[in-house]
Amino acid sequence: MAHTDHMPHSAGAPSAGDAGRPVATFSHARLAFGSRVLWDDLDLTISPGEFIAVLGPNGSGKTSFLRCLLGQYHLDAGHLDVTHAIGYIPQQHAEDADPMALRGRDLVGFGVDGSRWGIGLRGRSRRKRLVDAALAEVGATAYADAPLGLLSGGEQQRLRVAQALTTDPSLLLCDEPLASLDLTNQRLVVELIDERRRRANTAVVFVTHEINPVLPFVDKVLYLVGGQFRIGTPDEVMTTATLSELYGSEIEVVRVNGRLVVIGCEDAHHCVDETDPLATHPGVEAGHA
Ligand SMILES: Nc1ncnc2c1ncn2[C@@H]1O[C@H](COP(=O)(O)OP(=O)(O)OP(=O)(O)O)[C@@H](O)[C@H]1O
Ligand SMILES: [Mg+2]
Repeated sequence: MAHTDHMPHSAGAPSAGDAGRPVATFSHARLAFGSRVLWDDLDLTISPGEFIAVLGPNGSGKTSFLRCLLGQYHLDAGHLDVTHAIGYIPQQHAEDADPMALRGRDLVGFGVDGSRWGIGLRGRSRRKRLVDAALAEVGATAYADAPLGLLSGGEQQRLRVAQALTTDPSLLLCDEPLASLDLTNQRLVVELIDERRRRANTAVVFVTHEINPVLPFVDKVLYLVGGQFRIGTPDEVMTTATLSELYGSEIEVVRVNGRLVVIGCEDAHHCVDETDPLATHPGVEAGHA
């Protein structure tokens, strides 16, 4: 893997001629750190408006996959074409260091002024207009001036979605945006992201340890485990046969009240312990640890 500070292509809505063109294409892609291969011979096309869930245990390469799309990591082999503006909701939040000193609108503004992964726009009024529009888009205007530290986890996550939308992305990368949210707020954040996807035909790559909150929206799953991967629809990938083959051990996938319950791969957060009575009683919601 070659590390680079290179950023993805410049921001801005795609021109009319780009409609329907893939927002990203991996061809025979390989990423490795020393002898550790995260994936090899990966082919994946991400189309406008597509929702792709990236699943896998800790350390399987989910964040690294997003970093490739961001241009922060370069493939060791194969090709990656990324042709559109990218919005990014990162897994770690450095700004949490001093949450009382930062207002919601300051956080959203980071997406505009290029201090981190923004697009380098100049001008206060333009910045304010973009921030206000992004705040309105996620319904966060009412608490935009409150210190971040006083806001709930769900409200903070809404602001992070707003930050990622300031670049008017054609591809939105979300790294575990549901972590530490309750079920209601998980649903709200997923619906917000899906709303953006439908309205602007924005493709979404969504890293998650829990597939059930996104299951109704997912077109494709990329499932990474120990240097191996599977790509397909949830019905193709989230099966007893496919996951058992991928993990190299016996995994059972069952549906309980429309939710997927994966039993037997304890290293993945979305899997459940088969001794857990919630997992084995039909009619009881289960499926996340
Ligand atoms: N720059 C790097 N240099 C060396 N190793 C790296 C680098 N970036 C990631 N790795 C390694 O690659 C593996 C995959 O890391 P990554 O952060 O992509 O995993 P992940 O699937 O996002 O895990 P988690 O679910 O814990 O967030 C890890 O073993 C990590 O230590
Ligand atoms: Mg990660």
